[in-house]
Amino acid sequence: MHFRKFSLPALAFVLLFSLTEAQESPSAVCFYTGAPAKPGLTIDYEGVTYAFSSEEKKARFAQERTASLYQQIGGAAALKAAVDLFYVKVLADDRVNHFFEDTHMASQNRKQMAFLAAALGAPVPWKGRDMRTAHANLDIREPDFNAIAENLQNTLTELKIDEKLIAQIMTIVAGTKDDVLNR
Ligand code: HEM
Repeated sequence: MHFRKFSLPALAFVLLFSLTEAQESPSAVCFYTGAPAKPGLTIDYEGVTYAFSSEEKKARFAQERTASLYQQIGGAAALKAAVDLFYVKVLADDRVNHFFEDTHMASQNRKQMAFLAAALGAPVPWKGRDMRTAHANLDIREPDFNAIAENLQNTLTELKIDEKLIAQIMTIVAGTKDDVLNR
C-alpha cells in the first residue's frame, strides 16, 4: 500500500514529463540546416514529418515538392506503378533480361524505386550504392543502356505520364549513363 501511495503520482509525473519532452523533442531538427526546429513548423509528406527552423525554410520545402518531377507524376503511388511495369518489361526483353538472372527482383524493385524517387526530387535521400559502383562489374554496353532507357520511356508513356515530364525524366536518367557504363 505504501508503495502504491507513493508511486502513482510519481508515475503520473514521469509520464507527463516525458509526454511534454516528446512534444518539444530536441531531436526535431531542420530538414535544411540541421539546426533545432521551431515547434509547430512541420510538414507531413508521404507519412514522414519534416521540421523546419523558419517559416522561410518551411515554404521552401513546400515549393520544392510542388516543383519536383516526383510530385508532378503523382509521388510514391505513381512511381511504384512505373517501376513495377518497368521491370515486367525489362524481364521480358531478351536484349537485357540476362543481366538480371541472379538478381533478387523484389529488392531491386525497391532500390530502383528509392533511387528514382530521390533523383526526381522526393525528400528522402538515396542511401544505396552510387551508380558507378553498383554497375561496375556488369559489363554493360551502350545498347544495353539504351534498351533499359527505352523500357522506362515506354513504361511512362503507357502510364500516360505527361510527355514533357517524360522528357525531363529521361534527361535525368541519361545523366547516369557514363556512370552506369563505367566510362
Ligand atoms: C538507366 C539507368 C539506370 C539506373 C537509374 C539504375 C539503377 C540501379 C539501382 C538503383 C541499382 C541498385 C544499386 C544498389 O545495389 O544499391 C541497380 C543495380 C543494378 N542494375 Fe541498374 N540502373 C540503370 C541502368 C542499368 C542497366 C543499363 C543495366 C543492364 C542492362 C542495369 C542492371 C543492373 C543490375 C544487374 C543491377 C544489380 C542487381 C543485383 O545486385 O543483383 N542497370 N541499378
